[in-house]
Amino acid sequence: MDFVGSHILSIDQFERPDIDRIFAVAVLMEPFAQRKRVTKVLDGAILGNMFFEASTRTRISFGCAFNLLGGEVRETTGIENSALAKGESLYDTARVLSGYSDVIVMRHPEAGSVAEFASASRVPVLNGGDGANEHPTQALLDLYTIQKEMLAKQRQLDGLRIAMIGDLKYGRTVHSLVKLLCRYKNIHLHLIAPAALQMPEHLVEMARANGHTVHISEQLEGSIAHVDIAYSTRIQEERFGSRAEADLYRGKFRLNQSVYTQHCEPNTVIMHPLPRDSRAEANELDTDLNENPNLAIFRQADNGIVIRMALFALTLDVVDAIDDCSQAVGWYTGSRFQ
Ligand code: NCD
Repeated sequence: MDFVGSHILSIDQFERPDIDRIFAVAVLMEPFAQRKRVTKVLDGAILGNMFFEASTRTRISFGCAFNLLGGEVRETTGIENSALAKGESLYDTARVLSGYSDVIVMRHPEAGSVAEFASASRVPVLNGGDGANEHPTQALLDLYTIQKEMLAKQRQLDGLRIAMIGDLKYGRTVHSLVKLLCRYKNIHLHLIAPAALQMPEHLVEMARANGHTVHISEQLEGSIAHVDIAYSTRIQEERFGSRAEADLYRGKFRLNQSVYTQHCEPNTVIMHPLPRDSRAEANELDTDLNENPNLAIFRQADNGIVIRMALFALTLDVVDAIDDCSQAVGWYTGSRFQ
């Protein structure tokens, strides 16, 4: 695809060479993300970071990614703090905000809302999550992480065995990740969820149509026995009618060190898009895994920066100019990226 000026709304837009291109540019971003070099390539550019739904890492990492390229960030958080609460349409909001920004990132609780917004925007719009539909940049950073973790074991993405665990019905990260894995070959998908929260049928069908094997299960232990990746997810409480309804499913699948030791192959990589729900009644990914070297959740979060930098650099067409505008970092950077 031609990235320049394009919206990034869904994994449906990408073919495998596009994913390779994003990952190749992400690698170029590593020295900037690791505070070895700084660049001013987007000096003067403005990102409109519009988060109409709760977020910590997606919002901050999009903002940091833009800052790391030298650009400025303006943001709004929560529908209640925006004119949408006064009845303004997405169309009007998009027309206005795209006059103020060079690129917009948007998260919104309704599926399809970011695409609707993008159709009225005069600048590229990147989907930061639209309801239970998609979260394409999370899937890209997830796959970038998986690729890195597998390469360390001399493995490719083709042939990957992955378990997705938890709320697969409302979890937009796993929806986008299944679509992304459909660009690869011979994937073994283990979908572990309560029957009522299983992966939407059209995505299961898409995976099967791509020649992948799909195992559906309501039981954690047996289903994580032969996988490379165990990808846990949170019950998406905000998508349920009530807290009581979400409580029916909370805490059903708990991955902790003891379950891991007993049931997983050695060195199975543990992932989660975060936030993990660490309340006692949920605790889908126990903190007793924190020192397990196969816990990739914070490497995953770190990778959000380079993926988002890559998408900005591609859509704003500055990939080839980055090095010319860069220099070594002049301040103490510590050892956090070693
Ligand atoms: C996810 C999301 O918002 O869909 N979080 C994130 O962006 N990393 C997952 C979640 O909220 O459970």
